[in-house]
Amino acid sequence: MMKAALNFLLALMLPGAVLAAPAQPFDAATVARGKYLATASDCMACHTAHHGQPMAGGLVMSSPVGEIVSTNITPSREHGIGKYTAQQFSDAVRKGVRADGQMLYPAMPYTAYARMTDADVNAMYAYFMQGVPAVDRPTTPTSLPFPMNIRLSMKAWNALFLDQQPLRPEPQRSAQWLRGQYLAEGAAHCSTCHTPRGALMQEDKTRHLSGAQVGPWYAPNITSHPVAGIGAWTEAEVVQYLQTGRVAGKAQAAGSMAEAISLSFSHLEPGDLRAIAVYIKSLPPSVGHGDQSAGPSRFEQGKAGNALDKIRGVPYQENIKGANLGAQVFSANCASCHGASGQGTSDAYYPSLFHNSATVNTNNLLATILLGVDRKTADGHVFMPPFGDQVNAVNHLSDTEVAALANYMLVQFGPGQAAATVTPEAVAQVRQGGPQSNLLTLARAGMVLGALAVALLIVFILRRRKRAGAN
Ligand code: HEC
Ligand code: HEC
Ligand code: HEC
Repeated sequence: MMKAALNFLLALMLPGAVLAAPAQPFDAATVARGKYLATASDCMACHTAHHGQPMAGGLVMSSPVGEIVSTNITPSREHGIGKYTAQQFSDAVRKGVRADGQMLYPAMPYTAYARMTDADVNAMYAYFMQGVPAVDRPTTPTSLPFPMNIRLSMKAWNALFLDQQPLRPEPQRSAQWLRGQYLAEGAAHCSTCHTPRGALMQEDKTRHLSGAQVGPWYAPNITSHPVAGIGAWTEAEVVQYLQTGRVAGKAQAAGSMAEAISLSFSHLEPGDLRAIAVYIKSLPPSVGHGDQSAGPSRFEQGKAGNALDKIRGVPYQENIKGANLGAQVFSANCASCHGASGQGTSDAYYPSLFHNSATVNTNNLLATILLGVDRKTADGHVFMPPFGDQVNAVNHLSDTEVAALANYMLVQFGPGQAAATVTPEAVAQVRQGGPQSNLLTLARAGMVLGALAVALLIVFILRRRKRAGAN
C-alpha cells in the first residue's frame, strides 16, 4: 500500500515520459555492462547504415555469394528485435538462429560470439531492450541467389564449422591472459578479419590470425612471428594501436580496422586492451600466405628518398608521359603532407611512408591511396583524403596514375624494385572492392555441394518419416 501510494505521488511529481515508460525489468548496472559488451563486440559497425540511425540495420555488405543486408536490431516490435526473448537473442548471437527459426548467414559473426558467456549475452540483451532507442523502420530483405537462398544449408555449414564449446579451461594461464583470450576470440572477433578462410569461407584454424584479405584491405599477420607478424611490437604498442590506431614507425589503422578502433576498441578500458595485447602477443608464431619469414619485418623496410632531381626542370607534360609519372604524381599529391622524401612530420600526424606496414602490403597501399584514412578516437580525427574519388574530380587519380605512384613508392620507401609490379588492372580490382580470389569460385562450388548434401539429407529424412508413418 505504502509503496503504491509513494509511486503514485512520484508519478504526480514526474510528468509525462516517466508515466508512459514501459516496465524497466533490468537494473542500470546490467544495461551499462551490456552496452560495454556491445561496444566491445562492435554490433554498431554492421548494424548501422552509413548516416543511418544506430543499430537500425540496412548496411549492405558484399559477400562472395552476393549482397547481405544487416537487420534492424533496435527494440522496435515490428521491424526490430523488440519481440525477441532473452533465449531467442542468445540463439541469434551465439548460434546464428533467428527468432523465427531461420538460420542466419555467417556474415553475422556468431562463430566468435559463441565464446561469450550466458551472463554477458544476457547483459547485452538488457542493453538492446532498454538502452537502444527503437527505430520503426524496415530494412531491405537479403535475397541471395540459389542455392544460398536456402538458409537451411547453413545448418550443414554450422555442423561443420560452428564450435559451440566454451573456451577450453587453461588453469596455468593468468587471469589477464584468460580475459584477453575471452575478449579477442569472442566479443572483439579479431579472427573474423585476420584469419584466412578455407574453401567454404570458414576460418582456417590452422592459420589462426596469420593474415587475410577483407574486401579491399588486407588484415595482416598478427601472430608473434618476429618478421611475418607483430612479434617485434611491445605490449604497450599493441595497446596504443588498439586505442589510437597509430604506432609511429610501425603502422596506422585505415579501412575496417579504423572502423573497429573508432567504434569499438578505443572505447575499451585500458585493462581490457592490455589483456588483449598480452593474449595476442602470446600466440604461436605463424607465417601467413605471402609473408616473408626472414629479413627485415614489414616495419623495418624502406628509407627516406625522392626523385626530385629527375622531375625538376622537366615540363610537367613530359614527366607524366614517361618513367617519372609516379614521382610526379607523388610530388603533386602526397608530398605536401608526407614530405618530399616521404619522411612525414616529426609529430607523426602525417606518418613517414617508409618503416610503415602499409607501404609493404600492395593491397593496403592501393586501398589507402584510393580510399584514404578516416578514424575518430580520443586522439582526434585522423583524415587523409581518398584519391580514388570519382565524384570529386580534384582528388581523382586514374588507374594508370595510381599504379605508377604505387610502384614509385614500393621502390622509394618500400621493399624495392622487385615489389614494383602493380598494374592498372590491380588498381581497378581494389577500386571495385578487392581482389576476387579463386577461393570464391571454389566456395560457390562448395556451397552448391553443401546445399545438395542438405537436399539429400532432407529427402532422406522425409523418406524415413514416410516410412515411420506407414508403419
Ligand atoms: C560483421 C557484421 C556484424 C556484426 C559485427 C554483428 N552483426 Fe548481427 N547481423 C549481421 C548480419 C549481416 C545479419 C543478417 C544476417 C542474415 O540475414 O542472415 C545480422 C543479424 C542479426 C540478428 C538477427 C536479427 C533478425 O531477426 O533478423 C541479431 C539479433 C543480431 N544480428 C544481433 C547482433 C548483435 C547483438 C551484435 C553484437 C554483439 C551483432 N549482431 C554484430 C551482421 C553483423
Ligand atoms: C573488421 C575487421 C578487423 C577486425 C575485427 C580486427 N582487425 Fe586488425 N586489422 C584489420 C585491417 C584491415 C588491418 C590493416 C589496416 C591498415 O593497414 O590500415 C588491421 C591491422 C591490424 C594491426 C596492425 C598490423 C600491421 O602490421 O599493420 C594490428 C596489430 C591489429 N589489426 C590487431 C587486431 C586485433 C588485436 C583485433 C581484435 C581485438 C583486430 N585487429 C580486429 C581488420 C580487422
Ligand atoms: C592532407 C594530407 C594528406 C595527403 C595529401 C596525403 N596523405 Fe597519406 N596520410 C595522411 C594522414 C593524416 C594519414 C593517417 C595517419 C594515421 O593513420 O595516423 C595518412 C596515411 C597514409 C598511409 C598509411 C595508411 C595505413 O593504412 O597505414 C599511406 C601509405 C599514405 N598516407 C600514402 C599517401 C599517398 C600515396 C598520398 C598521395 C596520393 C597521400 N598519402 C596523401 C595525410 C595525407
